[in-house]
Amino acid sequence: MKKKVVSLMLVAAMAATLFAGCGNKTEETQTPDAAPSTEAQTADADATADAAADAVGGDLADKKVGVCIYQFSDNFMTLFRGELENYLVSQGFSKDNITIVDGANDQATQTGQIDNFIAEGVDVLIINPVNSSSAETITDKVVEAGIPLVYINREPSADEEARWEENGWNVTYVGCDARQSGTMQGEMIVDLGLETVDLNGDGKIQYIMVEGDPENVDAQYRTEFSVKALTDAGLDVDCLTDQVGNWQQDQAQQIVANALGQYGNDIEVVFCNNDAMALGALQAIESAGRTVGTDIYLVGVDALSEALENVLSGKMTGTVFNDHFSQSHSAADAAIKFLNGETNEYYIGCDYVKVTADNAQEILDMVK
Ligand code: GAL
Repeated sequence: MKKKVVSLMLVAAMAATLFAGCGNKTEETQTPDAAPSTEAQTADADATADAAADAVGGDLADKKVGVCIYQFSDNFMTLFRGELENYLVSQGFSKDNITIVDGANDQATQTGQIDNFIAEGVDVLIINPVNSSSAETITDKVVEAGIPLVYINREPSADEEARWEENGWNVTYVGCDARQSGTMQGEMIVDLGLETVDLNGDGKIQYIMVEGDPENVDAQYRTEFSVKALTDAGLDVDCLTDQVGNWQQDQAQQIVANALGQYGNDIEVVFCNNDAMALGALQAIESAGRTVGTDIYLVGVDALSEALENVLSGKMTGTVFNDHFSQSHSAADAAIKFLNGETNEYYIGCDYVKVTADNAQEILDMVK
C-alpha cells in the first residue's frame, strides 16, 4: 500500500509546488453539466438489455461470468457489485454462474483470480483492476484466451484503450469521468460564496485535500478539478495540506484530526475524494468541536446513504452521486452485447450528479 509520508512542515513550505492538489494546474477539460435522470437511464438500460437477452434466446442462463473487484471492503464497490449481480440475474444470468471475487487490494492476488477464471473457461470477464497500470498485462492474457472483457471503475490509460480499438478487441471500459465529480465538488463551495466560506476574511479559501489511492485516476482528477473549479471562478486558494487516505474512513479521520491540530481554525474547506473519507473527516471535525456549515465546509463523492443523511442534516456541505446503478447496468449490458456477438464502444461513460441539501432526499430515496 502506498503512502505519501511527508512532514507537515515540509507540506506547509512546499505546498504550492509539491502536491497535485496544491498545484495550479491549468489542463483543459470538458465537463458535461447536466446529468440525465437515473430513472431514465435505468429504463433505457432495461430496454437495451431486454432486447439483448431476447436476441440470444435465453442462453444467458448458461453463460459464466467472472467478476473481479479490487477490494470487497470498499463501500462504493460494495454497492456496485451488489447491483451488478442483481442486474445480471434480472437479465437472465443464473446466480450460480456469476462468480465475484475479492482482489483484497493486491494485484498479484487478482492476477491469480483472473488466471483461474481463464482456466475455468468463463464466457465473459468484468474487471475492476487493483492497479490500472496492470491493464495491459490483463488485457493481453484475457484477449489471448478469447474472452470478452469489460473493465469497470478504474480506467486504464488512454494508450491502453487505443490498443483495444486498433486491434478491434472485445474490450471496453465503463465508468464516469472523475473530472466532472471534482468540478462539482468545487462548484458546491463556489456556490456558497467567498464571504460565507472565507471565515478568516483573508480573501483566500484555505483548504485541505484528502486523496484516494493516488494510482487511481479518480483520485487524481477529483483532487485537481475540485480546486480548479474554485480558481476558475476567480477565487484564490491556499492548500494547507494534501494527504493520501486511500479511500478509507479511518485513514481520513487520522489525517483530518492531525490537520485540525496543526492548522486549527485556518481550515475552511475539507475536500475528500470520496464519502467514506468524508465520514472520517466529519468524525475528526466533530471531535475538534468544529461545526460543518458554520465554521468549516466538507464535501465528498459517492452519495453513500450515511453521507446523504449528513447532507440532509447539514453535517456535510455536499456530495456527488457516483451512479452505481447506471455503471453496473452499462457494464452488464456491454457484457451481454459481447456474448451476443455484438461490439461495444471502447469507452462507455456516465454522468455524476451534484448533491446538496436541496436534492439529497431524492437521491437517498433512490439509493436506499
Ligand atoms: C471511486 C469511488 C471511491 C472508490 C474508488 C475505488 O469511483 O468514488 O469511493 O470506490 O472508486 O476505485
